[in-house]
Amino acid sequence: MDLSQSWEAQAEQWIKWARAPNDSYWRHHRDQFIRLLPAPGKQTVDVGCGEGRLTRHLKQLGHAVVGMDASPSLVAAARAADPSMDIVLANAASIPLRDKCADLAVAFMSLHDVDDMASAVKEIARILVPGGRLCMAIVHPINSCGRFEAATADARFVIQGDYLRSFRYSDAVESDGLSMTFHSQHRPLEAYFVALEEAGLLVEALREPAVPDEAIGSPAGRRWQRLPLFLQLRARRA
Ligand SMILES: C[S@@+](CC[C@H](N)C(=O)[O-])C[C@H]1O[C@@H](n2cnc3c(N)ncnc32)[C@H](O)[C@@H]1O
Repeated sequence: MDLSQSWEAQAEQWIKWARAPNDSYWRHHRDQFIRLLPAPGKQTVDVGCGEGRLTRHLKQLGHAVVGMDASPSLVAAARAADPSMDIVLANAASIPLRDKCADLAVAFMSLHDVDDMASAVKEIARILVPGGRLCMAIVHPINSCGRFEAATADARFVIQGDYLRSFRYSDAVESDGLSMTFHSQHRPLEAYFVALEEAGLLVEALREPAVPDEAIGSPAGRRWQRLPLFLQLRARRA
């Protein structure tokens, strides 16, 4: 099963998880990410939009936005949540939009879940006008290659395998009576930066946001103020 099929298989769980207030998206990550975005332009494309929570938020912020995802069930959920929105069922490695049709592409927490990330980045560059931006967020590669030994604020973080090797992994999590299994690909930072470089996308901003104090639910949560959960960046098409 490839990653997009694994996400389709988890679609029902993801819709519930993505809409529950405990997810990092609602507690801090969406607002941290939005700060990286340019002002709304002519056309924004949300690549790997899932059930569409960020796509809907971008619309509220004034973006003319098209959502795009490879999971039929998540696309159906995004369309049902706002039937006025344009949501396309497609693989990010082959985006069915014309060249230079967008001035902003957003890939929020999706590129580490895409099998052919390099082709997806090339496709994103193709649909951007010169000077257009890609804003992306991924699970930070240091996070995906290791783990804390315990759920305490001062726990040791251990990398047992290889940071430099790309590998597939699954994380089963539970919270507030919901369960979700995330299927993703660990890649070293260089893999993303080579993909951007080969697609002609120049990085102009990078963030490793700590979980802010107000989003820390328990003392143990402070371990995520020592190490980044996520990596965000903004790149410009040359
Ligand atoms: C963690 S979810 C993020 C969804 C959304 N951006 C959000 O934050 O709510 C990752 C998404 O990537 C999508 N995905 C995985 N492989 C894909 C591919 N090859 N093309 C497009 N989307 C893909 C999944 O279907 C899933 O919706």
